[in-house]
Amino acid sequence: MDWHWFLLTLSPFLFWLWFELIRDEALPIPLPRVTIRKMLKLANVKKNDLVYDLGSGDGRALIIAAKEFHAKAIGIEKNRLLVWLSRLIVKKNNLHDKIKIICGDIFDENLKNADVILMYLSHKLTQELKHKFKKELRKGTRIVSASHPIVGWKEIKKIRTGHFYSYLYKI
Ligand SMILES: C[S@@+](CC[C@H](N)C(=O)[O-])C[C@H]1O[C@@H](n2cnc3c(N)ncnc32)[C@H](O)[C@@H]1O
Repeated sequence: MDWHWFLLTLSPFLFWLWFELIRDEALPIPLPRVTIRKMLKLANVKKNDLVYDLGSGDGRALIIAAKEFHAKAIGIEKNRLLVWLSRLIVKKNNLHDKIKIICGDIFDENLKNADVILMYLSHKLTQELKHKFKKELRKGTRIVSASHPIVGWKEIKKIRTGHFYSYLYKI
């Protein structure tokens, strides 16, 4: 089989893959692990804290939270391909008792049990979450947003994480 036929045969799969990856507003660009560690430290994540990653991508923040910070972690991700991949990685790391990945939309899940919220989303989504945070989060919940501040909220601290800042808020 020459290359043209090979690519032609694969094209429905490649199209599906492309569609799955680009249809979201917040592109599935993962944060560097070093940035995630800084964000978790910024939020002062402690053993048994429940950490949510909103738009958990390949699950790397959940893995680091569970493995290195001994936290429990829940990811919410609407891209089915990434949900499948991240669940596979969690299984390989034997962390299924500490990590849960929900396949769905951030806005459909109640966040009331969170101790810490991590997010690396678009500017627009970050602002749209304000109302949900006010309604659902308990007093004392820490939120760390990478790259985008929550407009109108005063951050407790901001730190440089690579090319951008990460912002810490407390409810
Ligand atoms: C920039 S990536 C960040 C991935 C991961 N948190 C990390 O830091 O490596 C944003 C992720 O949010 C997901 N996403 C965007 N909007 C979402 C929504 N409304 N509900 C659930 N996931 C969403 C995207 O599919 C993408 O995987």
